[in-house]
Amino acid sequence: MPHKVKAVISRAKDAPVEVVNIIVPDPGPGEVIVDVLTAGVCHTDLHYKLGGIGNDYPYLLGHESTAVVSQIGENVTNVAVGDRVILNWRAVCGQCRACAKGQAQYCFNTANATQKMTLEDGTELSPALGIGSFAEKTLVAAGQCTKVDEDADAAAVGLLGCGVMAGIGAAINTGEVKRGESVAVIGCGGVGVAAIAGAKLAGATTIIAVDLNPTKLETAKQLGATHTIDSSKSDPVEAIKELTGGFGADVVIDAVGRPETYKQAFYARDLAGRVVLVGVPTPEMKLELPLLDVFGHGGSLKSSWYGDCLPSRDFPMLVEQYKQGNLDLDAFVTERIKLDEIEAAFDKMHEGTVLRSVVEL
Ligand SMILES: NC(=O)c1ccc[n+]([C@@H]2O[C@H](COP(=O)([O-])OP(=O)(O)OC[C@H]3O[C@@H](n4cnc5c(N)ncnc54)[C@H](O)[C@@H]3O)[C@@H](O)[C@H]2O)c1
Ligand SMILES: [Zn+2]
Ligand SMILES: [Zn+2]
Repeated sequence: MPHKVKAVISRAKDAPVEVVNIIVPDPGPGEVIVDVLTAGVCHTDLHYKLGGIGNDYPYLLGHESTAVVSQIGENVTNVAVGDRVILNWRAVCGQCRACAKGQAQYCFNTANATQKMTLEDGTELSPALGIGSFAEKTLVAAGQCTKVDEDADAAAVGLLGCGVMAGIGAAINTGEVKRGESVAVIGCGGVGVAAIAGAKLAGATTIIAVDLNPTKLETAKQLGATHTIDSSKSDPVEAIKELTGGFGADVVIDAVGRPETYKQAFYARDLAGRVVLVGVPTPEMKLELPLLDVFGHGGSLKSSWYGDCLPSRDFPMLVEQYKQGNLDLDAFVTERIKLDEIEAAFDKMHEGTVLRSVVEL
């Protein structure tokens, strides 16, 4: 029997989001229905609403979630009814050329549910990042569910489903931060601050936070930044060099994703250092750099999609780090809200006053 549940959709470009009833079909082969417990409000949800990702309205928003499996389709073996899971947008296929090389974190053929959820009039919904979890129930591919320990705050660990994983993974997976290294992070929103927490987890001993907003720099300190730079007041390249013996940081993470911040990252790293781009640029942005400087600096320039994470490997490990007190995921949960407060949460995101608003269902 299909389920009728409450959910939040974006019906048209830039219109306020709406709470509506949606229809969730019974799970088909390889599909799972979950009861959503919590859902973080991510910048990407706002991008969908503003038309920055596509024009496939109506979008069923939400994707950073902890949930409980409530129904499974045929051939589902990785989870069972009653399991506590974190939803992910990297359900690896096991067969594409990345998976075949043993690099499933780059899987080029990730899975989503094949059936569609709809409005009551039958209009098909486009779920954000193939998840759509601003809903009491949602339909996903079984591989989008990663089983985790029940014994952890759902709102906090659910954030590993997107932005926090992207930031932590930018440091520990893409940047391969090692014990004793120096790391600078440009942009200290949810993703940047998570990169700082990741650098700390990996054992970096100099962690430099850069932002234009002093409030963000305070949060960065809480999560492990050893130094902060207000780049509206001083040149971040010079300041990062000064804090690293005049040389630059071993790893610089750009968690903004603009040509000017990327250039800062490029020039603020030590010779043979690594730059990681995790902030997402827009189509009109262009980068110009002297090719001789690219050559002369050596090292590597990498981009990080979803923190190059493998959910089955990284989510349970990070939940355990949280439980053992090594990773303060609680600090990311600024407020707990209800489904009808998401529009207000977008405003707060815009004002820069929250790290994450988390919907509790
Ligand atoms: N790569 C991925 O897989 C992935 C996943 C999730 C989000 N993201 C992207 O990461 C980026 C950051 O996301 P977020 O949720 O942290 O956003 P956010 O808006 O919360 O944070 C951005 C921060 O950057 C700061 N900032 C802006 N311009 C700056 C500048 N010129 N110099 C220094 N600081 C500056 C802002 O003050 C803010 O603190 C976004 O582009 C988002 O789309 C990427
Ligand atoms: Zn694959
Ligand atoms: Zn997200």
